[in-house]
Amino acid sequence: MTSYQAKWPNKDGLIEWTPTENQTWQKLITRQLKTIENRACDAFIKGLERLKLPHDRVPQLTDINEKLKVTKWQMIAVEGTVQVNEFYTMLKNRQFPVANFIRIPKELDYLQQPDIFHEYFGHGPLLFDPGYGDFIQWYGQMALKFSALQQRILSRLFWFTIEFGLLQTAKGLRIFGGGILSSHQETLFALESMTPKRYSFDVQHILQTDYDYQCIQNEYFIIDKIENLYALQEYNHLEKLLEHISTGNQAPFINC
Ligand SMILES: [Fe+2]
Repeated sequence: MTSYQAKWPNKDGLIEWTPTENQTWQKLITRQLKTIENRACDAFIKGLERLKLPHDRVPQLTDINEKLKVTKWQMIAVEGTVQVNEFYTMLKNRQFPVANFIRIPKELDYLQQPDIFHEYFGHGPLLFDPGYGDFIQWYGQMALKFSALQQRILSRLFWFTIEFGLLQTAKGLRIFGGGILSSHQETLFALESMTPKRYSFDVQHILQTDYDYQCIQNEYFIIDKIENLYALQEYNHLEKLLEHISTGNQAPFINC
């Protein structure tokens, strides 16, 4: 059961958000813009400037897509859960599926499912970054080749980068994962708490690390550059690793 209400555009292509929904957006973005200061990576901040999200109301998808045109990405509203292969096909076609509801006021910090704030604020800005955008497209294209079990394992790569990735920079540790950047609590926790483990980026380690999508993470992976994500397409051992992990064999140690 979900208490969230998906919204669809009217005949003019616009969603009629209620005053309460607009107020929820305003509260979320006002607080989060302060929280991400000196915590979000520079590419995210640059993308945010280009996306120019309104502060006083929920953005319209048509406006978001107008700004995203230069990236050849589009955000596409979907209701409920998208089938796995449809999800990958959309990514392959540079279509980023997004929820079209906003959380209810009493759940400002706890979400049953990702909402429009997570999608637009968490992922929108970095779609302007070529390394991030091209990686997601490649990920969708490549994932389509694998079995359902292998795709489940592969989802860890998306999870620990696009959703919950950290970035090492000259200014210190920064966040690029949209799951973190759209959460006030996790933005603080991911960088400042002593509780979680933070590992250097390692594909083999990531593919062998399970996650719980309902909790704050207790493990994060740190990459050195966002471009390194797209460079993963030159990583030749993915197929072999997925085969070993999905058949329950210990993954072979691979030097790369
Ligand atoms: Fe997400």
